Amino acid sequence: MTSINKKLSYYFSQALVKAFGSDFTEIDPLVSPASNPKFGDYQANIALSLAKKLEKKPREIAQKIIDNLFLEDLGETPTIAGPGFINIKIKTEYLEKEIKQQQNSANLGVEKAEIVQKIIVDFSSPNIAKEMHVGHLRSTIIGDSLSRILEFRGHQVLRLNHVGDWGTQFGMLIAYLEEVYPDALTTADALEIGDLVTFYKQAKKRFDEDNQFKEIARNKVVKLQAGEPQTNHAWQLLCEQSRREFQVIYDILDIKILERGESFYNLLLEDIVKQLEQQELLKEDAGAQCVFLDGFTNKSGDPLPLIVQKSDGGYNYATTDLAALKYRINQDQAQRIIYVTDAGQSNHFAQVFQVAKKANIITKNVEIIHVPFGLVKGEDGKKLKTRSGTTIKLRDLLDEAVIYARKDLETRLKAEDRQESEEFIKNVAQVVGISAVKYADLSQNRTSDYIFSYDKMLALQGNTAPYMLYAYARIKSISREGKINFENLEQDAQIFLKEETEIELAKYLLQLSEIIQEVEKTLLPNRLCDYLYELSKKFNRFYENCPVLKSEEPLRTSRLLLCDVTARTLKLGLSLLGIPVLERM
Ligand code: ARG
Repeated sequence: MTSINKKLSYYFSQALVKAFGSDFTEIDPLVSPASNPKFGDYQANIALSLAKKLEKKPREIAQKIIDNLFLEDLGETPTIAGPGFINIKIKTEYLEKEIKQQQNSANLGVEKAEIVQKIIVDFSSPNIAKEMHVGHLRSTIIGDSLSRILEFRGHQVLRLNHVGDWGTQFGMLIAYLEEVYPDALTTADALEIGDLVTFYKQAKKRFDEDNQFKEIARNKVVKLQAGEPQTNHAWQLLCEQSRREFQVIYDILDIKILERGESFYNLLLEDIVKQLEQQELLKEDAGAQCVFLDGFTNKSGDPLPLIVQKSDGGYNYATTDLAALKYRINQDQAQRIIYVTDAGQSNHFAQVFQVAKKANIITKNVEIIHVPFGLVKGEDGKKLKTRSGTTIKLRDLLDEAVIYARKDLETRLKAEDRQESEEFIKNVAQVVGISAVKYADLSQNRTSDYIFSYDKMLALQGNTAPYMLYAYARIKSISREGKINFENLEQDAQIFLKEETEIELAKYLLQLSEIIQEVEKTLLPNRLCDYLYELSKKFNRFYENCPVLKSEEPLRTSRLLLCDVTARTLKLGLSLLGIPVLERM
């Protein structure tokens, strides 16, 4: 289905050419949903921006466009408002036809992308032997949702977990592992070092206190880099242990992602530095190999270099990202690469991208985007902690959300005097708790910091997951009561839009495709949340004003169809946020 916006843009483009000649073929007519529904449903703002070029008054231009505009069966005659906005009201018959088509379509009329791209989404990316923290949680939730949206549009998405699995710290960890768990290296599955973070701390302590140990650790780094089997095996064991811990979180959150850590690019690092050298981009600074960039200075105004090889010859985070970029563009053939990390890494990515451009690693037709996000804060505005004041573990944070969700549910069941099975309660609490965490994150504009509050995210009112899930379940219960089998409905069952609130609902439902395409461009999932929230409010207004089950036919079926499209739109929208629905809750 072609969206109304697209159709209108097409009609306007034609009118522009007819009115002003073929020079105007490429001009975007600036069509968007009306900012004020009083004037119409859509507006085109093109007349204002052409005033200078045409040396005419915008209203005059607007009139000329309208004179040449042919809207077929889509809209009423447009009107001009204010300095020269063109307003269009969509014909009700047209809405009826379109919404019926949307109801018939399996993917609710959302078009597939015209040009299918190969897209890499680099997200989650925690570090081996370290805690997966709330920053990684945000990256995981946002990256997964963006991937789902891009996949739904038909793109080929490669979800990559760029885990931090390489670096000098592994020398220390391996040396410590061999010292305290020598068995682990020879016996399969003997490794039970439990909390790797504690292990990391102990190893670090040992490293800081004992010079002899330090020396062994350094030696291990050399052996690891040389690919010595036993050292490599120890490194594998550590990675495996971390992987298991990360997987617990991914299972809870239903995340699919392919691990391709920093170590994957090891053999390519030397070549990257060589390439930069050949391209005469390198400069030595205090023994390190650096690239100096335009526009990057430190606090005192001195140029800030990007270090690609340290003075001890080692490579770093940036070198790996350059190698990864090259691999992703040349080997994976990615056309769009999206990095989801906290805003604190904005500088890093800006520098890496600039160097990659200078070195022609990024070619013209590849789009590279850093998708930054803000911090997660506690309700006191400070760093997030548990109620007892200790630093928060991701696993505990998610478990706690489920516990709170269960409490809320039990209170509600009691108030409603309902008896439900343990299985039902467990499932609802799990879905609501985890969805609440996801939705709270996604419904914020990701660039701002957000306050983590169980009370807010679990509230039944407002822009929250429980509210959305509840709206869905309620509509489904109407359908159940209506006893209509939507799958078996005769194709010719029609939709009639009589009341203002049902017209409003239909119009809004028809915007789904545009919203999804907007998120595909802006990579802001909160727009989708806003849309779903507004949709459920519009549905409520419709339901308050229009009897559904008590209406006479054919209105009854028509309204049940509207309920069906709304429920399916909510379900689809939520699934793109990584949130499953509940038929009953
Ligand atoms: N491991 C990094 C961290 O925890 C994130 C990696 C992001 N991806 C990348 N290609 N640099 O901060």
